[in-house]
Amino acid sequence: MGPMLVNDLQARVAAIRWYHTIELGHGITTPGVDDSPQRLARLQLPRSLAGLSVLDIGAWDGFFSFECERRGASRVVAADHYSWHGSGWGTKAGFMLAREVLGSQVEDVDIDVMDLAPERLGTFDLVLFLGVLYHLRHPFLALERVSSGVGDHLIVETVVDMVGVSRAAMAFYPSRELNNDPTNWWAPNVQAMCGMLECLGFEDVRTTTQLPKAGYRAARALYHQLRGKNALVSAFRQDRAVFHARRQARPDPS
Ligand SMILES: C[S@@+](CC[C@H](N)C(=O)[O-])C[C@H]1O[C@@H](n2cnc3c(N)ncnc32)[C@H](O)[C@@H]1O
Repeated sequence: MGPMLVNDLQARVAAIRWYHTIELGHGITTPGVDDSPQRLARLQLPRSLAGLSVLDIGAWDGFFSFECERRGASRVVAADHYSWHGSGWGTKAGFMLAREVLGSQVEDVDIDVMDLAPERLGTFDLVLFLGVLYHLRHPFLALERVSSGVGDHLIVETVVDMVGVSRAAMAFYPSRELNNDPTNWWAPNVQAMCGMLECLGFEDVRTTTQLPKAGYRAARALYHQLRGKNALVSAFRQDRAVFHARRQARPDPS
């Protein structure tokens, strides 16, 4: 790409409000609010996805879809709805530009999570459900819809709450309690998340996130409070975690 074209690309990138941080090559990285490479590092996404089909639900700018394609997936479908329609979330412009620049074959499907069904999209070896669960009014029903499209492996990344409570529980946010965002509704704790996935028939369910101990969580919650973010008592029980669910039990990796 010549210097003129690189300037042109820079201008096109600058005109978009990005969620994901995507390396487009030519020294250009999209200025997303999300530290996508850092989140990828926590996901424990298999290094090779050679020959697998992947569905990325709530894909937005497509960072994780493009990464799955890069890891050899034979087919990747990026599905989303809200953030592709501009009503407060963002637009589809980032996904379209990144796909063009990366020369990607990732397919796009406009669909609400609640409308997912094998008759609509088929089933996929790997399904990614990242950063979406807590935005849903009916998370267990949504997980049921999501799991209907999972052939083998589901990865869920979500806010967790009620951490440290010794039984399965979910926190409800009727207003802006979580991150001052009225589109956040529910967050489960680890036991609730694993329990839901087990109820949906996954044989092998585990979290790959080691949540910090109470002392660290208390210090972090105090820091949150001082910065005017989530209330101290809530922040103490909140974090993010990754869950891997497989249709069939696998030997313990350790
Ligand atoms: C916080 S972003 C996460 C984006 C990406 N999956 C990631 O982890 O970086 C939440 C995404 O979920 C999508 N979303 C929220 N509710 C949805 C629904 N009911 N159906 C489909 N997508 C939804 C939004 O449009 C947005 O793209």
